[in-house]
Formats: sequence, structure tokens, C-alpha cells
Amino acid sequence: MVHVKDVLKSMDYGPAPEGNEHVVAWLEAHKAGFGHFIGGKFTDPAAGKSFKVTNPADGKPLARVALGTTEDVDNAVAAASRAFKSWSKLSGHERAKYLYAIARNIQKRDRFLAVLETMDNGKPIRETRDIDIPLVARHFYHHAGWAELLESEFPGYRPVGVCGQVIPWNFPLLMLAWKIAPALAAGNTVVLKPAEQTPLTALAFAEICREVGLPAGVVNIVTGEGDTGAALVAHEGIAKIAFTGSTDVGKIIRTATAGSGKKLSLELGGKSPFIVFDDADLDSAVEGLVDAIWFNQGEVCCAGSRLLVQEGIAEKLYAKVRARMETLRVGSPLDKSTDIGAVVSAEQLERITSLVETGKKEGAEVFQPSISIPGTGTFFAPTLMTGVEPASTVAVVEIFGPVLVAMTFRTPDEAVALANNTRFGLAASIWSENINRSLDVASRIKAGVIWINATNLFDAAAGFGGYRESGYGREGGREGLFEYLIAGEAKPKGKDSAKATLVAAPSATAQVVATDEVDRTAKLYIGGKQARPDGGYSYAVANAAGKQIGLAGLGNRKDIRNAVEAATKAESWGAATAHNRAQILYYLAENLSARAGEFEERLRAMTGASKRAATDEVAAAIRRTFFYAGFADKHDGAVHSTKSRHVTLAMNEPYGIMGVLCPEDAPLLGFVSLVMPALATGNRVIAVPSSRYPLAATDFYQIVDTSDVPAGVLSIVTGNASELAKTLADHDEVSALWNFNGGVDAALVDKASAGNLKPVWNGARDWHGVEAQGREFLRRSTQVKNIWVPYGE
Ligand code: NAI
Ligand code: MG
Repeated sequence: MVHVKDVLKSMDYGPAPEGNEHVVAWLEAHKAGFGHFIGGKFTDPAAGKSFKVTNPADGKPLARVALGTTEDVDNAVAAASRAFKSWSKLSGHERAKYLYAIARNIQKRDRFLAVLETMDNGKPIRETRDIDIPLVARHFYHHAGWAELLESEFPGYRPVGVCGQVIPWNFPLLMLAWKIAPALAAGNTVVLKPAEQTPLTALAFAEICREVGLPAGVVNIVTGEGDTGAALVAHEGIAKIAFTGSTDVGKIIRTATAGSGKKLSLELGGKSPFIVFDDADLDSAVEGLVDAIWFNQGEVCCAGSRLLVQEGIAEKLYAKVRARMETLRVGSPLDKSTDIGAVVSAEQLERITSLVETGKKEGAEVFQPSISIPGTGTFFAPTLMTGVEPASTVAVVEIFGPVLVAMTFRTPDEAVALANNTRFGLAASIWSENINRSLDVASRIKAGVIWINATNLFDAAAGFGGYRESGYGREGGREGLFEYLIAGEAKPKGKDSAKATLVAAPSATAQVVATDEVDRTAKLYIGGKQARPDGGYSYAVANAAGKQIGLAGLGNRKDIRNAVEAATKAESWGAATAHNRAQILYYLAENLSARAGEFEERLRAMTGASKRAATDEVAAAIRRTFFYAGFADKHDGAVHSTKSRHVTLAMNEPYGIMGVLCPEDAPLLGFVSLVMPALATGNRVIAVPSSRYPLAATDFYQIVDTSDVPAGVLSIVTGNASELAKTLADHDEVSALWNFNGGVDAALVDKASAGNLKPVWNGARDWHGVEAQGREFLRRSTQVKNIWVPYGE
């Protein structure tokens, strides 16, 4: 007799294909090819060229789409510029209605979009149906809300203009939503270029825009390859670029936009750690791993691709993982019971395959389950590599496929060190039943998103984005909206530039004297001490009338390196309580006030300012210091409302070590206006005063000396500001750079920091005006880390 339990044992899943007739019919209707979506209409490509889009699961062609040229990009930007005039003036409420209509329409067509996405990308229908498309709708709903609230929640902010958006192929429609929803909510118009592998859902989205009656030109879609993206990035009419994709291209874009004043946000690669402590619930951790690395074929920028496991449980966990891998189903993406679909392209498959080969050669032990893999299409088996050295290729580079590499650690400290041993910093997943330990580790990992006992959770209300070479800027939530807004009134073109005051900086040869000869040289201030410049030279400082009034140290690379070293040792500043930092800032203000007269004299002698003007500047500097002392414990994070039974903690973390290039105008007030907010939020600062008027800043170290500022928290290096700026930009340990020195070329600083993707703020302010202080300075000196903590048994 046949027993039911025996049947259950051997029972296999039958095929459960999702119907795709409606998508096939839609593709058939567009057999002639898709044009670009420009100015509310589908238009033929200017050069008449197109390219083929295929289904990676079977290699069959799906459609032909237009190959965008510079001319197409020009047309699209022109349409977006025209549309901007009226779209940006609509009330938030009017824009909200459009976003809401788009969200509704996406929900109405959810099955169509899920099937189309699956056919275009190769990802399983279960994921497009349950994750991608619902999140797309959620993003438009969420941002319909922001459009409505914009005027009340972001007073004094305005849209940036025309945004150029370039997206990848791994979450085609979701990445479109992450880019277009906030841009439109904030009153911008967009030109978006989807990835060449997966342009189809963007074209279906264009139809939705038309259907809801979105004004022509608000959304433009130009299809094409990397060159098309590059043309968009280079276009003069673009005010902001948002990019998601590889770190390599991120760096190219950073260089291409250097000095252009274009706003830029980059969401790049990752090699995110998945950390399992010995007290973790191992079965949950294994399920977590499935979602971390086998979700979306592992083609996920925040994939938990590095398994770090505590030594004592490593073998046990590996055994469980291997057993679970045997039950994963690789197959037709349209089959509802498929876990792992096709890799996006033959090129990507080749990349994954060759990296796994490299891993083998480097000595990793490679495990793949004995499950069946389709014979045609670009499929890759789920893979686990153990015995991996932390410095080996597969432990370092992003594989972007269903490949997990595993390493062990002994202590929490070692786990943190291993986790941070990467140039990336996108996400991390921490598994432990000990919440104290989990939160401690979360606070020490340098990454923008941390999931505790969870992984790959996303929601429109929480910002997403990286630290370090994973890029900068956030998508989602309030923090993401800032990427599409600028503070202040629109200024006439040309006046907004950071190059407003260009003054010759001292060169290493001009007016240079050996410091030993004159002992009244203002020294550098490094590590809590006055320091002679490493090179031993000073330069003459002249007043406004050209008469020499003193000497300042001519700092060089070595001095900057010393300042960074001192700052590195002062790491505890960021961990001090905000109350503590406030106390020290108050103390600075008090001591500045006690010596107000000296500073007034110095300003007058240096700049030729009137007594009245000098008195005003010192008074304003004292007030500004009080302002940031007051704010030190009020730059709060948030608890986002995301999923049920989760808290999502958005914490404002200091960058760490910041370089600050101070302005020439208002030599004291400008210095204080930049240094104080950065210190208040817990950064250590290396300040470079303007070459021309450095002496008010060098006088300031006497104030620092008497105000309990820990050594290394604030260093002051004078000299050729442009040269010092370049050294600061080049330095990997300097995590952010503010350039308010009109004499330091923004392009130079931008280019020099493209290599390490350091966020740079090139700015200019009227230091006596209201825009010279406030939350923007606090926000720009911090980056948001979102920590997701689920609760409940
Ligand atoms: P990619 O960075 O070249 O492509 C992403 C987008 O950028 C596409 O739309 C592409 O057409 C465009 N693009 C390419 N070159 C450009 C340029 N010079 N200027 C402007 N736009 C340009 O990524 P690709 O080649 O598809 O994948 C290579 C690797 O990048 C993957 O193996 C993976 O490691 C990583 N990647 C990371 C993603 C992420 O979400 N962080 C997404 C896609 C890829
Ligand atoms: Mg590429």
C-alpha cells in the first residue's frame, strides 16, 4: 500500500507557469520597435538606430529599442527644461495627484509589469510579483505624500531643475521608481536612461505617464547604452545626476561632472557582510542567507555576499547552508515555484563564472548543490565558497551573482574589523540573539544600511545608500528628498558659482622665508599643539593694502598627513555625548568672547575692515558658536515608519575626519561657520584657512588650547590652499570635504576626490546672512545610517 507520507517525501513541484499572453501581445503590438519617450510622445531615434532586447532565460528576442544619441539626449533635455517651468510651479498638491495616479495605475497593471520585468531581466516571478512591483507602487504613494507636504516640511527649498538619471538592470522598474518619484515630488523634471539589458518596463512606465495625463516633458525616457548615459551626464542642461550602477562608472561620472556644479548622488557597488554570531538562531540565519545572496540571483548591490561566521559554529552553519542549497530551485523565471532565475546576460554570466574560477585557483573550497540547472539560458548554480582568505579576489570584489564567500572570526572586534575590511560600505546584516551586541556591532560597521536578524528589507520611508566607495546620497524617505532640492532662492545664472572670489594663492616660491629666521610666524596647529610646518617654510601675509603684516606656516602634504594621524587618534570625539561636545563649544564661544578685542584688531589689520565691521564679525562668530553648541544635542535622527513590527532607526553619524577649506571673506566668521557644525556633529576637522587671510584662524588655536578641545579634534594647516585641498581630497582617511574657499577650484577638488568617492560640498555663502547657519550644515556633516530591528518572537 502507498502511504501518504511516502508520497510527500518523493513529491516534486510540478511546473506552475505564470501566464504571459498579455505581455506577449504587448510586445507583438510594438514589433516595429520602441522609440524614445520625449515630450510626452514616443519618438523615433534621431540617428534611426536601434538594438535588440532579449529574454535571458531562453535567449529569445523580445523587442527592438532605440539607441539614443547625443541628439536624442538634447531633445529630451529640451523637453524636460520646457516642462520644468510649469511643473516646478504647480502646487505640491497638484503634483501629489499625479504621483498618486501613477501609483494607482501601477497597482492596476501589477501582473503585467511583473511578467514583463521577469521576461526582460530573468528574475523569478515570485520576486517581481511580491517584491519589485509592490515596492514600486509604494514609492510613488510615499512620494505623493512628500509632494503634498513639500511646502510645509521643506520651507526655503526649491527643486534643482532637470535631472539626468541612469539606472542599472538588476531592479529595472524599482530603480526607476526610486529615481523618478522623489524627483517629481520635489518639482523637478527628468530624463531617465534605463540599462541597455532591461529597458522594457521603463517604456511601459512611459505609457502609464501618458495614460494618467502627466504633463508632456516631465518624464522623458531615452534608451541606449553607456554612451547614451555619458551624453546625458555631460549635458549642460542637466542640474542633477542620479546614478545607480558599478563603482567604476560611478567614478567616471564623478570625474565627468567635476567642477560643473551639477548635484550628484551615487548608489554603487557593495560587498556586504552577513555576520553570524554563535548565539544566533541558526535556522533563521540560514533563511536570511537565502534572501541575502540568492534573492535576485545575487545581482543585488546590498547582497549579503560575505558570510562572516563565528568560528565555533562555522562547520555547523555551513552544513545547514549546504543542505538548504540542495532545496533551492533554479529554473524558468516565469515558474511560480522558482527560487533562482536567469542571470541578466551572457556577459554577466561570464563574469560570475570567471570569478568563481579565480576563487578556486586562490584555494577556496567551492560547493554547488546537485540540483538541476536549465540547459539553455544564462543560469548559474547557487555557490558557496569556504576557506576564503580575506585578501583574496573573491572576498574583495563584487561578484554580483549567486555566489557566497565565507570566512570565520573569533571575537566581535574581529567581526567588525573583517566587516569593515572593504572599500565599500553599503549594507550589513547581523545575526545574534543578543541585542546589545548587535547594536554595538551595528554602530561600528561603516555602512549605510544595517539589518539586525534580517536582510534585504526595503521601504520608501527609509533612506538607502552607502558609505565610502558604495557612493553617497540617499534614496527614500526625508533624507532622499534632499537630493532633489536646493536651499535658498534661485539666483541668476552664473552668480551661484563657488568660484566667485578667485584670489592668487601663495606658491611655494613666492615670498617664502625659512621659519627659523623669524620666530613670530603663526604656526600650524596639529594634534593639540602648535607645529612648525614640515617643510620649514613660511609665507608673508599681507593686508588688504598689500603691506606685510605677518608670516604664516607653509604647510605641505606631510603636515596634512600628520593632522590626519592626530585626528585618527581622536576618534572618541564622535562617541562622546552630544552634551559633552556642546559644553566644549560653549567654552570655545566664551573664550572667544573674552578675547573679542584681539580678534577685532586682527581682522582690521588683515582685511582693512572698519571697526564696526570687525566688531560685527567677531560678535557674529561668537553667536554662531553658541548656535552650534545649542544644536549639538538636537541634530536628532528618526525612527522611520516602515514595515510592521520593525523599528528603522535613522541615525546621523559623523563622517569621521573632515577637511574644511575656509573662505577668504569673513576670515573669522567663515571659519567658525564651517568648523563648528562639523565639530558639533562629532567630526574631527582639518581646517585650511584661506591663503590670503589666515591669521584670524591661526589666532583661534589659542582659543582651542584653552577650551578643553581634545588633541587632534581640530587641526589648522595654513599654506597654499589649493595644494592642501588636493592633498585632503586625495587622502582616503578624510571622509568628506567642504570647499568654501572661492580661490580653490571646485573642479580640482572634485576630480581629486573621484578616486575615493569622497563627498565634496563646493559652496559659497554670505556669512552674515541667514543661509550661513542652520540644519543644512549639520546634515552635510553627517551621513544617515539606517538600522532595521525587527521585534516579536
Ligand atoms: P554599469 O555601471 O556599466 O551600468 C549601469 C548603467 O550605467 C547602465 O544604464 C549603463 O548603460 C550606464 N553606463 C555605463 N557606462 C556609462 C558611462 N560612462 N556614463 C554614464 N552611464 C553609463 O554596470 P554593468 O556594466 O551593467 O555591470 C558591471 C558590474 O557593475 C556588475 O557586475 C556589478 O558588479 C556592478 N553593478 C552594480 C549595480 C548596483 O546596483 N550597485 C547595478 C549594476 C551593476
Ligand atoms: Mg558597464
